[in-house]
Amino acid sequence: MAHPLYTALFRTVFVRMDPESAHHHAARAIELAGRFAPTRALMAATFGRTGRTGAPGSLELFGRHLSSPLGAAAGFDKEARMVRGLTALGFSHVEIGTVTAHAQPGNEPPRLWRRVGERALVNRMGFNNSGSAAVAARLARLRRTRWGAAAVVGVNIGKTKATPPEHAAQDYALSASALARYADYLVVNVSSPNTPGLRDLQAVDSLRPILEAAQLAADASARRRVPVLVKIAPDLSDDDVRAVCDLVAELDLAGVVATNTTIDHDFGPGGLSGPPVRARALEVVRIVRGELGPERVVIGVGGISAPEDAVALLDAGADLVQAYTAFIYSGPAWPGAMARALNRRASTD
Ligand code: FNR
Repeated sequence: MAHPLYTALFRTVFVRMDPESAHHHAARAIELAGRFAPTRALMAATFGRTGRTGAPGSLELFGRHLSSPLGAAAGFDKEARMVRGLTALGFSHVEIGTVTAHAQPGNEPPRLWRRVGERALVNRMGFNNSGSAAVAARLARLRRTRWGAAAVVGVNIGKTKATPPEHAAQDYALSASALARYADYLVVNVSSPNTPGLRDLQAVDSLRPILEAAQLAADASARRRVPVLVKIAPDLSDDDVRAVCDLVAELDLAGVVATNTTIDHDFGPGGLSGPPVRARALEVVRIVRGELGPERVVIGVGGISAPEDAVALLDAGADLVQAYTAFIYSGPAWPGAMARALNRRASTD
């Protein structure tokens, strides 16, 4: 589904650039093109074109209308700068973040690598972001614009590196409190491999107080019941996936995002994303849906590059799907082309 022009550009220009610099240039272009009405309209008309409200494939979730099931996964827009640009390109929703309570620089570069042969990425970014207060101020400005108010935005929150695990619940609560009022849904990320000890928080005894605190803080600050989901790693055992699901049901949370990057690879430190994650993400989504039943929300992420990959996740029980890595390899025409393919398929079902 990659546009031939983009593929040529990727092979000749981008591949020679440091991956993080390439990301910054692309991010700046998406941010700028999304900020101004004429360029945004041009992008939407050229690439986006996902169809009318009520068209096959579009859906209602979190009390919002989504133009297709396909959204931008967390990590691409950590700072809520690209929501208008990414939705104009055809993503039905954007999960911003991971945002931490306090600003932090992330790990020392280099911290992002391409595995071109596998069309995969390895990253150990470490939640570089400007912190919950700065991102909340940006979201407040975004929500005051017409396009920004209409956009479906998930906010993914994580633990500040300097916060010790015993204070994790307060740290998540601080972010939830600052950000929930701007979020259509909130994601508690306990599955990134690049913050020491973070993934240990997936153990239910550690997770329970974090989820309780995040939900309480979110609801109190937004003055409504905020949908809270948990994002899990593909490296959890099946039993651990079931244990997290039981906790989600016990606390009556909205659902689960499955999955994050994997550490089960031989390419050095960091999380691997893209096609190598696909099979396990699919299995985890199937387990999660089986465990949660039909009432809760499941968001499927991991290795989507063709419509069939997204369809497999949807058939396994995902309500929504998200992607990151394939967007890097396939370029700006990819989200819209994928969304149209998914919606065409829905119209023939
Ligand atoms: C990510 N991902 C991620 N997830 C998250 O919850 N918070 C984050 O900050 C990040 N950051 C991040 C950075 C980079 C460079 C990549 C490639 C990925 C994980 C992402 O949201 C997704 O779960 C996985 O990448 C699997 O999906 P894809 O990339 O295979 O479509």
